[in-house]
Amino acid sequence: MSKASTVEAPPATATDALDARDTRTDQTHTLAIKEGAIRASDLKQFKTDDGDDPGLLSYDPAFLNTAACRSAITFIDGDKGILRYRGYPIEQLAESSTFLEVAWLLRHGELPNQSEYDQFVHDITYHTYVHENLRKFLEGFRYDAHPMAMLNSSVAALASFYPSSRNIFEERERNISMIRLVAKVPTIAAFCYRHLKGLPFVYPDNDLSYVENFLSMVARMSEPKYEPNPIFVRALEVLFILHADHEQNCSTSAVRAVGSSHVDPFSAMSAGIAALFGPLHGGANEQVLRMIEEIGNVRNVPQYIEGVKAGKGKLMGFGHRVYKSYDPRARIVKKLADQVFEVVGVDKDLEIALELERIALSDDYFISRKLYPNVDFYTGLIYRSMAFPTEFFTVLFAIARTAGWLAQWEEMLMDKEQKIARPRQIYIGSAERPYEAIVQHRHAAGPRMQKDALRQ
Ligand code: ACO
Repeated sequence: MSKASTVEAPPATATDALDARDTRTDQTHTLAIKEGAIRASDLKQFKTDDGDDPGLLSYDPAFLNTAACRSAITFIDGDKGILRYRGYPIEQLAESSTFLEVAWLLRHGELPNQSEYDQFVHDITYHTYVHENLRKFLEGFRYDAHPMAMLNSSVAALASFYPSSRNIFEERERNISMIRLVAKVPTIAAFCYRHLKGLPFVYPDNDLSYVENFLSMVARMSEPKYEPNPIFVRALEVLFILHADHEQNCSTSAVRAVGSSHVDPFSAMSAGIAALFGPLHGGANEQVLRMIEEIGNVRNVPQYIEGVKAGKGKLMGFGHRVYKSYDPRARIVKKLADQVFEVVGVDKDLEIALELERIALSDDYFISRKLYPNVDFYTGLIYRSMAFPTEFFTVLFAIARTAGWLAQWEEMLMDKEQKIARPRQIYIGSAERPYEAIVQHRHAAGPRMQKDALRQ
């Protein structure tokens, strides 16, 4: 019996263990269970007698049942519909906190005291301006550029303005980069909006709060001082809090994976923005509105639902990888939507949305698959009623999620167990085969290509 395959006693610290018999070798191995998990690398001890066997792999496409990190930031119980940031229930934070307080909490693990909070608000406010060259960079986009594509490339471009941000193991550098990102992302987002609308850019107003200033940069016209609607300010503040983090979702995993190469935080954040752009993730709130537009009238809802059940697309804003009961954020957003609609009147699409929700929640197809409205189902309706264009919805999500991405990025960097992310694969391609030339390669293409280039 090889050393690797001997039945070992669980490590002294582990109280639970998994005994597993490998039917290929008839050997039993003991895997320590700690914090409800086994170590995938412990599976390597399951080897056949073949000396080259590297041991057993775990195969988990899309990470359905694999923890890639230990994290102290966000807790989700998908079956019970619980979401907590650093132990605080999302409902309480949404009720009483501010987005910047939550951003501090996510990173530091504790709520700030008054002087920490005041200093943080000051620092964020101080760094809201962006370099003028970034403004010029944004002007270079086509008039119909998607704002998420603009935001993504602009955040990546910030790395070129702050080269010392690459010193990610210097706390001072991490601090200033994180402040810059929380401060500048709303400015860049608002500039993307103004570009989309063909309006002149509005510079930050540092007398205003974080959310007020963002709304000012988005909506201010000729008035000397912008006075935002307080209902909109609170609604956006709550939406930012709800979207600030959501543990190891697609974009956060992208930030962690890209950040694990020790690249600067601006580049890592742009990876998160790219992931969020996708219609199955942050892009879903945009897709909900597009779906409602496609349905067009409340009487078309039953037919649309039948189409979904027949496999013709998904009901956007429904379903979640983790929540298999109601998304707790959706409950808060629904209440918020009612408050906003009381002020601005019922959104013309709300009737369709409510009918979709009513039918889906009573239809066995959705009930049996545990498909409930997720946070994106209602956020789009609120954003629409605040007159944000549909393609801008995911940008609003990205502003908020920047706080969570940064906290997760730093936690990953400080975690001594983390290394560059590098999943394994199960190779299913051809075995070795000899190369046979089937095309004549043109090795002297250079001069001709140069001539062609000169002709252009
Ligand atoms: N409409 C109709 N059917 C659905 C939906 C939906 N929105 N979501 C899942 N299903 C069905 C699947 O077709 C599948 O059915 P089957 O068992 O008959 O094959 C079953 O429900 C299980 O679905 P999965 O795809 O396995 O669920 P998964 O956890 O992989 O997907 C996801 C989760 C991506 C969110 C999915 O529900 C979806 O695409 N929803 C619509 C997009 C959306 O709203 N995304 C926002 C997520 S929240 C966020 O990112 C902030």
